[in-house]
Formats: sequence, C-alpha cells, structure tokens
Amino acid sequence: MNPLLETHALTKRYGDTAVFANADLQVQPGEFVAVLGESGVGKSTFLNCIAGLDTVNEGSVRINGTCITALGESQQALFRRAHLGFVFQAFHVLPHLSVAHNVALPLLLLGQPNPARVQQVIDAVGLQGLESRLPQTLSGGQMQRVAIARALVHQPQLILADEPTGNLDPSTAARVLDVLVAQVREQGAACVLVTHSRAAAARADRVMTLTATGMVEGEQTSSLPLDGRGARIDSLPLDGGGIRIDSLPLDGGGLGRR
Ligand SMILES: Nc1ncnc2c1ncn2[C@@H]1O[C@H](COP(=O)(O)OP(=O)(O)OP(=O)(O)O)[C@@H](O)[C@H]1O
Ligand SMILES: [Mg+2]
Repeated sequence: MNPLLETHALTKRYGDTAVFANADLQVQPGEFVAVLGESGVGKSTFLNCIAGLDTVNEGSVRINGTCITALGESQQALFRRAHLGFVFQAFHVLPHLSVAHNVALPLLLLGQPNPARVQQVIDAVGLQGLESRLPQTLSGGQMQRVAIARALVHQPQLILADEPTGNLDPSTAARVLDVLVAQVREQGAACVLVTHSRAAAARADRVMTLTATGMVEGEQTSSLPLDGRGARIDSLPLDGGGIRIDSLPLDGGGLGRR
C-alpha cells in the first residue's frame, strides 16, 4: 500500500541552526501515529511543514501521491482545504464566528454546506448546546474541541493534530481521541498526533519521537516530562496533569480553576 503521508529527509533551519534534519515519516491510510518530542524540538514546525504552512530547507512531503513541497502557495492552500484537517496547538478558532459557524467553515469553503454533518461532529466532541456561542465565551477545553470538530467536519484524508487534548480532562480527552480514531478507521484517513501525553500516545498505532537529527521509532521517555503520571510528579507542582486530576473540573483550565 502506498503511504498516505510520506516525509523524506525533511529539514528545517533558522539561519545555520537546524531545528530538525532528515525527518522521515510514513503514515498509511487508516493509521494513527503519535509524534513525541521535547518542547522546542520542532513538532509544531514539522506539522506546519507537512501542511505547507511553513517552508522547508530540504526534503519533500508527499500526501496521497501529491508532492506538497513542489506546489505553489495557492495550490497548497487549495490542497489543504480539500484534503487536510489541522488542529492547531493555539486553536486558531475565528473569534467573530459562532461555534457552529467555526465548525462549518471548511465545508463552506469547499462549497459543500452540510448542517447535519456539522451537528454530528459538534455532538461527537460534546459541544451540543453551545452551537451559537462565540469563542470568547468558551473555556480553553471547549475551544480546543471546536478546533477538533472543525478539523474533522469535511472528512479529510490527513488529520494533523497538535496537542489536541492538552486542555482536556482525562475523560473528555478520551472521548475526543475516540472521535479521532473512529474517523481514521472509518474513512481510511491518516492521523499524525503531536502530544506530550502518554495517555494520548497510547491510543496510537505507532509512536515516533522527533529529535534534532530526525524521527526515531518508539518513545524516548525523557520526551514526556509533562504527563504528570510519571515518577517525578512531586517536581511538577504547576502542571496539574496528574495531581489530583480526578478533582479537576470538566474542561479544567488547571489548578487555578479548582
Ligand atoms: N523565527 C524563528 N527563529 C529562530 N528559531 C525559531 C523561530 N521560530 C521558531 N523557532 C524555534 O524552532 C523550534 C521549534 O519550535 P516548535 O514550536 O515547532 O516546537 P515544538 O516541538 O512544537 O514545542 P512544544 O512542545 O513546546 O509545542 C523552537 O526551538 C523555536 O524556538
Ligand atoms: Mg508545539
């Protein structure tokens, strides 16, 4: 089977400093791959390069046979619109649009309005009842779920998700991951999930770690310092990721919300 996503020797530099070099990744249709790596190693940059939202210095990105790195900017934009779903680390929810309109946007841009599908994904991520709310009235976790619903609504072939459960309590995170996994399996889509969460990585078919010198198979344990479930829990007083986590409110914004 041809991979749905293939990066070959992908290299990103700022000046003389390489963020990462020679990053190779292949993801098959229906496959869910987690990418781990220390903060600042270039995971978000890597996803942006795959999507054509950032330029690469060397290497290539192929999505379903199309070489993204060889396309011009406007062709890349059209390709993204049709084939990609991107959950940004910073959400990028549009502030002047309601929840429902934010989620509907990819379908509208494709000229394929489908209110029933919009409602289906809103329900799937647990945002029913909030359809007409503006983003400023949402919690961080609710906003994150708007971003996830928007990335999935048009049933893209490739889903790129940057810490999509970083603001969610464990049960909501599990539910959102269920939605992602279901879409990958049912549509034969491919998903690259960037995460610091061991629980999220455990849902993936395969785990890779991004390092300065490329993609390495498996998990490098030092790259998961923020999970809160590890041994160094007492050295992480501000994380809230594992400390009395069952007492955090749904969509918990962290310790300050208790
Ligand atoms: N314009 C720039 N000039 C120089 N370095 C930059 C520039 N933009 C980003 N970087 C560096 O590129 C690196 C990769 O950043 P990126 O956001 O991709 O990391 P990340 O792995 O996603 O981190 P995190 O886990 O914290 O989200 C960082 O070390 C950052 O400082
Ligand atoms: Mg990042």
